Amino acid sequence: MLLLLVMASSCSAGDKEARRRAAGSNPTRAALARVADASHGRSIFSRCAACHTIGKGAPDAAGPNLYGIMGSPVAHNSSRFGYTDALRRAGGVWTEDRMDRWLTSPQRFVPGTSMGFPGLADPLDRADLVAYLKTQG
Ligand code: HEC
Repeated sequence: MLLLLVMASSCSAGDKEARRRAAGSNPTRAALARVADASHGRSIFSRCAACHTIGKGAPDAAGPNLYGIMGSPVAHNSSRFGYTDALRRAGGVWTEDRMDRWLTSPQRFVPGTSMGFPGLADPLDRADLVAYLKTQG
């Protein structure tokens, strides 16, 4: 465990591969969550920042503000944002599992969503990003 914490505390490319190995072969999402690095997730968020703010009370951009998104009801994080009916109908709350599926392919998870983002192919990148989102709220 200590080893994992030490490895999770920095974020070079080699370190990422070490974290990937530590998660084991064919890792579950939970195993990836255990080695996830929120600071690397923060750098991945720069791709989201083209359309999303994440600061508390920050205005919506092309997409809704994402402060406190983890655990919040789907399509309700911003009271001002005009969500698609497709996303409104998805219902439920943003659990780690659902966020992982959304970030894999928004269009596959919610056909008809207006989120114009192709998805993140690397499961470890998604785990890192979810770890970062959890720190913002
Ligand atoms: C090209 C613009 C764009 C990019 C890039 C983008 N998004 Fe979005 N996002 C949107 C739009 C637009 C919506 C609203 C979708 C709808 O109503 O169907 C949205 C919705 C969301 C929601 C749902 C919010 C809620 O209140 O339920 C989450 C979560 C989200 N985005 C996360 C992300 C993350 C994380 C990234 C980076 C990996 C990202 N988005 C990249 C445009 C974008």
